[in-house]
Amino acid sequence: MANVAVIGAQWGDEGKGKIVDWLAERADMVVRFQGGHNAGHTLVVGENVYKLSLLPSGIVRGTPSVIGNGVVLDPWHLKAEVEKLRGQGVEITPDKLMIADNCPLILPFHRDLDALREDASGAGKIGTTRRGIGPAYEDKVGRRAIRVCDLAHLDELGPQLDRLTAHHDALRAGFDQPPIDREALLAELREIAGFVLPFAQPVWRALNAARERGRRILFEGAQGVLLDIDHGTYPFVTSSNTVAGTASAGSGIGPGAVGFVLGIAKAYTTRVGSGPFPSEQDNEVGERLGTRGHEFGTVTGRKRRCGWLDAVLLRQSAAVSGITGIALTKLDVLDGFDEIQVCTGYRLHGEEIDYYPSNAADQAAVEAVYETMPGWQETTAGARSWAELPAAAIKYIRRVEELIRCPVALVSTSPEREDTILVRDPFAD
Ligand code: IMP
Repeated sequence: MANVAVIGAQWGDEGKGKIVDWLAERADMVVRFQGGHNAGHTLVVGENVYKLSLLPSGIVRGTPSVIGNGVVLDPWHLKAEVEKLRGQGVEITPDKLMIADNCPLILPFHRDLDALREDASGAGKIGTTRRGIGPAYEDKVGRRAIRVCDLAHLDELGPQLDRLTAHHDALRAGFDQPPIDREALLAELREIAGFVLPFAQPVWRALNAARERGRRILFEGAQGVLLDIDHGTYPFVTSSNTVAGTASAGSGIGPGAVGFVLGIAKAYTTRVGSGPFPSEQDNEVGERLGTRGHEFGTVTGRKRRCGWLDAVLLRQSAAVSGITGIALTKLDVLDGFDEIQVCTGYRLHGEEIDYYPSNAADQAAVEAVYETMPGWQETTAGARSWAELPAAAIKYIRRVEELIRCPVALVSTSPEREDTILVRDPFAD
C-alpha cells in the first residue's frame, strides 16, 4: 500500500483542496511538510466551506494532522486559524494536531521585512504573500531561527536572540525602522507559547510509528513545483522546496515512505504574482479563462494571470518531482473554445528548445511554440466518466499525457467531489 504525496505541478492554485480532501478522508494521517500560511486551500464539506492556510486539510474531518519541520510557523496565525475552525465546530486537540517541535517560527519582524522589501522593489517585486515566509526561511538556513521547542525555554535564548536581533536590526536600519524591542518580543512569545506548546512534539516519532503500523499517510504539498526555490522560475518563487522530495526532509521520514506522487495540474495555466509565464494570454483568451475559472487568489484576493497549458513546464515538473500520475482539474473551463492551444516547445534566440532554461533572462525571453487542437462545444462540467466527455476533450487529455510523458490519474470536472473521473486510485497502488 502506498502513502501518497499531493503536490501542485504548476504555479500553485491548481485546485488541490478538493483532491486533498478526498484523499485525506481515507488517510490515517495528513502531513504538511513545507511552506506556511502563504497557502490557501478551500474545502467544501457538505454545506460548510473551510478556508485553510496553515493547518493540514485532514483537520476538518478529524484525521490526525501533522505540521512538519519543513513548514515555517506563525504562532499567532496558528491561533487565529485554530480558533476560527473551532468556531465552525471543528475539534482541534493535541491528539488531532501535532506540530514539529523543530519547526522554525515566523515572527512579526519577518512579516515587516517581507512587506518592506516588496514595497521597496518597484518593478522587481516578487509579489509575495507578505506573510514573512521568505525572511523566516532565511533565518532558518542562517541558523538564527527561534523554533517551536524554544518556546519552552524563552529565558535561555540569550546568544541566539542576540544573533537574530543584531541581524534584523541592521536590516531594519536600512529601511529606517526602529530596532526590535526584545522585551516586547519576549513578552509576546511568552503569551503565545501556552497556546502552541501543547501541540508540539518530535513528530518524526509519530510518523515513523504510523508507518511501522502500516497506516496510510498523506503528504500535503503547498504552492507548486514551478514556485520551488531550486526548480522554479527563480527568483520569482517561494522560499521552500515544493517538490515531492521535501515530504521526507520536511517531516522526518525516509524517502521510501512516499509511494505515489500525485501532481495536480489545471487543464490550462495560471500564475499569481510576478515572474515569467511563457504561455500567458494577456488578451481575450486569458480574460475568458480567468472569468470562467474564477481565478482570484484565496489568500490575497489578487487576480490570477491566465494562459494555455504549458506542456513543457508540466513535463519538467513531473520529471523533477517524480510525479506518478496527474490530477487534471478545471477541464470544464475550456468548454466552448473553438480551438485550444497547448505549448509544446520554446524558441529561444531563434533556436527551438524542449525544456525551460534556468537563467532568469532566458526564462523571460523564451517564446512559446503552440500546437492547436479542436475545442468542444459541449459541457464537461460535472462529468463522472469518460463516456460523458466529448471526443475532442478526450483527445486533448490523451495528447497532454503524451506531451508530458505522464498518465492522468484523475480528471476533476467541478468543485463537487463526485464530479471526478477516476482512472487510478493513488492509495490503491
Ligand atoms: P511567498 O511564498 O509569500 O514568499 O511568495 C512568493 C511567490 O509565491 C509569490 O509569487 C506568491 O504569489 C507565490 N505563492 C506563495 N504561495 C502561493 C500559493 O499558495 N498559491 C499560489 N502562489 C503562491
